[in-house]
Amino acid sequence: MNEEHVEPEATMRLSVQHLAKAYVTHRPWPLAKRNKVLEDASLEVMPREIVALVGANGSGKSTLMMIVAGVLSRDAGTIHIDGRIGYCPQYPVLYEKLTVAETFRLFGVAYRMTGEETEQRASSLMAELAFANYRDHRVEHLSGGTRQKLSLALAVLHDPELLLLDEPYSGFDYETYLRFWDMSKEIAGRGHSILAISHFVQEQERFDRIYQIRDGRCERER
Ligand SMILES: Nc1ncnc2c1ncn2[C@@H]1O[C@H](COP(=O)(O)OP(=O)(O)OP(=O)(O)O)[C@@H](O)[C@H]1O
Ligand SMILES: [Mg+2]
Repeated sequence: MNEEHVEPEATMRLSVQHLAKAYVTHRPWPLAKRNKVLEDASLEVMPREIVALVGANGSGKSTLMMIVAGVLSRDAGTIHIDGRIGYCPQYPVLYEKLTVAETFRLFGVAYRMTGEETEQRASSLMAELAFANYRDHRVEHLSGGTRQKLSLALAVLHDPELLLLDEPYSGFDYETYLRFWDMSKEIAGRGHSILAISHFVQEQERFDRIYQIRDGRCERER
């Protein structure tokens, strides 16, 4: 008998199937319009994978990621996620009047972490991304790059199994960019997964897989 060894199928970290989304402009008929952004978008991310989502400006990358993160509703399709999510939006959403340390405490409470856990993790993330000197500065006084570092650190604070990153490093200096990739490899090495929106063609080899959004669908590039 020809026995074939079949590997057990690994649990999927994220499965997005047949996602559809249209934005409706709320203007009186006949001016109201439906702008179909996603029509039949499907993608999958496995444990340990760092997957890129690429596509032209306005192709629907952020829309897809916001739907997966649960901050935007969908018109059709299914989403299955195995584990906790961390989401770093394209434009950091922060409380201007809080200090960096207060911001970490606020998110720690939301993630149901203890004060001690939050403190330890925040200190190590601030050291890793080199912004510990801003610990007691108010968010409103931070530079664009430091805001992005804080936004990324908040997304990983609770060590999520699925990390959703919308152009996370567009404002990073080169050293921070390299630290970001070290951090990402370490996260994936522990069995977690990352879906990142990216525009940089030159970093394709850093990703395990690449999906391109075109005409509302995700085409697998490799
Ligand atoms: N809240 C909204 N209301 C109406 N249309 C929207 C809204 N948000 C996005 N759109 C439209 O949906 C389309 C996709 O936008 P989205 O932000 O998802 O693109 P993207 O691929 O992330 O682009 P970029 O590379 O510029 O970040 C665009 O045509 C945009 O104008
Ligand atoms: Mg976007």
